[in-house]
Amino acid sequence: MKVQELQQAFVKAYQREAQAVYFSPGRVNLIGEHTDYNGGHVFPCALSFGTYLLLAENNVGEHRFLSLNVDGEDWKKYPKNVIDQLMKNEKLKIKNNQCFDFLYWGNVPAGAGLSSSAAIEVVTAFALDDQFQLGLSRTEMALISQAAEHACGVNCGIMDQFASAQGKQDHAINLDCASLEFELVPVKLQGMKVVIANTHSPHKLDSGAYNARVAQCQEALKELKSLGLQIENLAQVSQADFDKVADKMTDPVAKKRARHVVGEVARTNDAIAALKAGDIARFGQLMNQSHVSLRDDYEVTGPELDALAEAAWQVKGVIGSRMTGGGFGGCTVSIVRDEAIDTFVEEVGKVYTQKTGLKADFYIAEIGDGARRVM
Ligand code: GLA
Repeated sequence: MKVQELQQAFVKAYQREAQAVYFSPGRVNLIGEHTDYNGGHVFPCALSFGTYLLLAENNVGEHRFLSLNVDGEDWKKYPKNVIDQLMKNEKLKIKNNQCFDFLYWGNVPAGAGLSSSAAIEVVTAFALDDQFQLGLSRTEMALISQAAEHACGVNCGIMDQFASAQGKQDHAINLDCASLEFELVPVKLQGMKVVIANTHSPHKLDSGAYNARVAQCQEALKELKSLGLQIENLAQVSQADFDKVADKMTDPVAKKRARHVVGEVARTNDAIAALKAGDIARFGQLMNQSHVSLRDDYEVTGPELDALAEAAWQVKGVIGSRMTGGGFGGCTVSIVRDEAIDTFVEEVGKVYTQKTGLKADFYIAEIGDGARRVM
């Protein structure tokens, strides 16, 4: 939908014009999966698709929420929790007696693991910061949005909300999730594209499976500390130190999870260095290794994501392919040579349907800017 159509929809819903229009994007993570809540680096990009928010102050004494693309009531917990976070915060002056009508519309494919909920949270935080002149930094908006997600019962890391708040066109974000320091790295692929493939799998990432991984990492951290490692998070464990103590770990699940995190932290740093050095082939190999580790050690891929990634690896002109985001269902991200894209879509799509009976969707990712006021 165009902004003008959204403005018309706002008038239709609330019988007056919107005061302002905001946008915040979804994200795709290139590498660094399940490292964020372990203090490691991630390397996501904001996408050109995301969530629009139109609002106007009302005098009905309560906030009202509408979505043009999501049914039901469940999604409203995201903006409501952001508002709660802003009201709870002593330093911020969100007033109880000033209420708004909100209208949301998003074009992030639902349930695809491309952070549609983070886009809703961040666009809400950004809009209220602007309306109330709160003076929040983008990093603070991301933290408030993450706290809102935690209040929904998902113990997520900071990656999705950070990417939505801080993204920059044609750049990936090299984010240190321990310090929240970051650098924007240009993603200038000569003759290649970032292609997202959606499993449309019914196996969604649920908070139970996600929170279980977070807890298993905490177990692993405890065990590694008890084995003598001086660490505050799993990302601080070097491969050499891990190899020395791994055999002494008694919990086999914790050991596998830690092995993924230790390897993924190293792969992410290598991959970022490779991209900066223009070594895209190396970047692609590391993407593939990342998928294998998420499949075998972290156990968050599942048959659909595996079918997509494994089919992609067979196509000539595919530089690398892996699952992206939390896992289970959702999407893969691949780097594909321009001349191979048609074959990629056809071949991978065909194998995927043969193996799973489902139909995949493919999008060329456009790397866009983070949260902003549109009008
Ligand atoms: C989800 C979470 C993120 C991150 C990824 C896995 O998207 O919201 O914080 O943990 O999974 O990398």
